[in-house]
Amino acid sequence: MADNSSNQIRIKVENVSKIFGPDPKAAMAAVEGGMGKAELLESSNHVLGLHAINLDIRQGETFVIMGLSGSGKSTLIRHFNRLIEPTAGRILVDGEDVLKLGKSALREFRRKKISMVFQRFALLPHKTVLENVIYGLLIDGMAKPKARERGMEQIELVGLGGFEQHYPGQLSGGMQQRVGLARALATDAEILLMDEAFSALDPLIRHDMQMQLREIQARLHKTIVFITHDLDEALLLGNHIAILKDGMLRQVGTGAGILIAPADEYVARFVRDVNRARIVTCGALAEPKPIYDSPQAASGDSGWVIISDGHGGHGLMRAGSKHDSNTSGIEAAITIDASANVEEAFGALSRRDRPLMVMSEGRISGLLGWQTVLRALERSNEAEHKPPLSN
Ligand SMILES: Nc1ncnc2c1ncn2[C@@H]1O[C@H](COP(=O)(O)OP(=O)(O)O)[C@@H](O)[C@H]1O
Ligand SMILES: [Mg+2]
Repeated sequence: MADNSSNQIRIKVENVSKIFGPDPKAAMAAVEGGMGKAELLESSNHVLGLHAINLDIRQGETFVIMGLSGSGKSTLIRHFNRLIEPTAGRILVDGEDVLKLGKSALREFRRKKISMVFQRFALLPHKTVLENVIYGLLIDGMAKPKARERGMEQIELVGLGGFEQHYPGQLSGGMQQRVGLARALATDAEILLMDEAFSALDPLIRHDMQMQLREIQARLHKTIVFITHDLDEALLLGNHIAILKDGMLRQVGTGAGILIAPADEYVARFVRDVNRARIVTCGALAEPKPIYDSPQAASGDSGWVIISDGHGGHGLMRAGSKHDSNTSGIEAAITIDASANVEEAFGALSRRDRPLMVMSEGRISGLLGWQTVLRALERSNEAEHKPPLSN
């Protein structure tokens, strides 16, 4: 997904732990002494929901939280709007400690700043699509004509124009989920929390919704926290992905970054079946290279280097090769866009002996050669003979 994120941190999770049970503080002490989830459950009947989570979620990004069932995804996201309070640590939203919000500030915060889309749509069956979408706005005191106008905009945005007078029962699951999405968008909240929002949909409709969410996000630049246990969905939607296991954060990174360099064996097994060639982009693999303005200037370097022709064009040359004039040994550069996937790079690489020049928004981001591509793809084979992943 295109990265719209700025550097501004919207949600900061600081050392958050959550323990379920009658005496979480005591159990916390045991966990700090090194006790894991299974042992804690066994010895004291407390559930370690989350352990020492640190995360930054930035303005404009889609941040995916991924993990198997029971790994703590919902527990984590529910901390963001304080449906759950941590046993230890704190959550800052736009720099504000959510635990310090008073009653009315919290109500305001949930209505205006952060809104949630649920897996099971949670639509009111006796209200029409439009009434469902604007329900929260009316409760919030917005005048009806304005709410209807806002509601209709969101209904159009999610592709449900013409269905505003239908009742939820008359709609398919996918359409109902769009109503849920329209309702969340209508609040104008800058942060959307989506907990397995598409998981109940059948695969084709689900893919439609994923593409639609990408389109909406490209227009609105919300900050979206999206939970899924589906890796393909995570890779399709996430600018960053966090992988949870047993309440612990195992890795946070871009999809490509995680595929290229899994932090541990668990993550490696988690991602082993992904077709890397389709997910990893050329931009993620490009090796930055200096740009020389003459072959002579590059003589101290080695391997393929980039030479400027002085007129805005660029060629490639093997540094260290002998040449008499300024132009001998320079080969035309074949360019590829940073967003192209490695599968596309294969074709271009196989036709010539030289690396590709990777371009990002008109600028050179580096070179990409066979070796790098093969090394990145090899990782999937390394993990291939490991036993299957279990919970
Ligand atoms: N209210 C609760 N009381 C006790 N245990 C809970 C509660 N909520 C969640 N858990 C436990 O915390 C862990 C994480 O759950 P959850 O966040 O729902 O996982 P996920 O959303 O990844 O499937 C699980 O072991 C779950 O059983
Ligand atoms: Mg869950």
